[in-house]
Amino acid sequence: MKNILFVASEGVPFIKTGGLADVVGSLPKCIDKRYFDVRVFIPKYACMKEEMKSKMKYVTHFYMDFNWRNEYVGVLSAVEDGITYYFIDSEYYFNGSKPYGDSPLFEIEKYAYFSKAVLSALPLIDFRPEVIHCHDWQTGLVPVYLRERFQGNSFYKGIKSVMTIHNLKFQGRWSVNEVKAITGLSDYFFTPDKLESYKDANLLKGGLVYADAITTVSSTYAKEILTDFYGEGLNGLLGARANSLRGIVNGIDYTEFDPSKDKFLKYPFDAITFRKEKVKNKTALQAELGLSVNPKAMMIGIISRLTDQKGFDLIAYMMDEMCSDNIQIVVVGTGEERYENMFRHFAWKYGDKVSANIYYSEELAHKVYAASDAFLMPSLFEPCGLSQLIALRYGTLPIVRETGGLKDTVEPYNEYESKGTGFSFSNYNAHEMLNCVRNAERIYYDKKREWNKMVDRAMAQDFSWEKSALKYQEMYDWLIG
Ligand code: GLC
Repeated sequence: MKNILFVASEGVPFIKTGGLADVVGSLPKCIDKRYFDVRVFIPKYACMKEEMKSKMKYVTHFYMDFNWRNEYVGVLSAVEDGITYYFIDSEYYFNGSKPYGDSPLFEIEKYAYFSKAVLSALPLIDFRPEVIHCHDWQTGLVPVYLRERFQGNSFYKGIKSVMTIHNLKFQGRWSVNEVKAITGLSDYFFTPDKLESYKDANLLKGGLVYADAITTVSSTYAKEILTDFYGEGLNGLLGARANSLRGIVNGIDYTEFDPSKDKFLKYPFDAITFRKEKVKNKTALQAELGLSVNPKAMMIGIISRLTDQKGFDLIAYMMDEMCSDNIQIVVVGTGEERYENMFRHFAWKYGDKVSANIYYSEELAHKVYAASDAFLMPSLFEPCGLSQLIALRYGTLPIVRETGGLKDTVEPYNEYESKGTGFSFSNYNAHEMLNCVRNAERIYYDKKREWNKMVDRAMAQDFSWEKSALKYQEMYDWLIG
């Protein structure tokens, strides 16, 4: 049995702000239990649901030297769906009303504490991982502490580390002096070939320098991050480590997202019944959301964090144009205020066509995936993207920009060969997006048979975790040797 430890800042079902939590919550379940014992470490946030907190049991506690203090570290655990989770408990660090959003400096201190606490806790919980699999900047110091601080100690000797990039935009950067003081790492680490990056200290960079292997969540993004445009200033380093970098596309949890067994749907459907049943979900949702009830109107769903990354400036620019067409747009999500207000505005202006649901609800999200005909996701960059995978499974054709995981998972419609599972455009340009949306409208309204064949192909795709989990297993085997 090989022991693998995931370390991350969030994980479903305990806490979620984005796709990272879905991956941390679903991938461990799909790693072969006959050969691997995968466990997960996340913080215990005060803002977790009571129901989740009540599942946690006390394991141990200790005091750790950190930021010139002797800091309390509690360790709790819970078993969820066969996977053992551990939680780092600290009232001082994890007390906020949201997981993130404190001052940048406190965020860095918080996750430096978390990274060190996880490593320090290992000898006390009777679990020695062969590989520690770290996710995003919050855990960037784990490979650093592992290699250096804990090197002399035989318990840690030989433990390998992996750093997975879910989003290169966030790196955990702050002034060298303050990060030095907080982390207790010596001057030696703060040079441009280690943690320093453009005069600042950079936690993700530390992880990328010291991890034994680096992965990201699609093969296209793995190539894109070697370029200036997508590299976020770390493309030089990533290029130097290209031999240790691989792209493994994310999957989704096929039991959670199954239109034939979805508990939120009044009219479940599958690859055979969708022609009759899917549309019933649409008319039901139109009635529920106060849109005009019309089974023939093309419905476009948008379920997303409302951030720049997801291409909302293109959408904002083209909303009036799109609303002059015979379509309906249903939005679910929260994020930057200007985009929240933009959608509220258009919902007010085009009440029968636009529904702006500026909150997150799992139930509504499932209903929108099922009800919509198309799903719009014109991202500026997209390491993988999970919603387009869910949309495909629900026979809802993605309209995407050809970047990162979107490019790898959505095959563009080819009218002449009758191929494709969605619609795509290549340049980050509002008119290109509009043309692409209108092309989809044309097929939907004028070539319904073609459209339905595309839905057949979309629903026949397999983006469950199986294949990707095998690739992670191969990597773990290779690292352990
Ligand atoms: C981040 C990325 C998204 C990816 C997810 C899970 O949220 O923005 O593209 O799917 O992480 O890896």
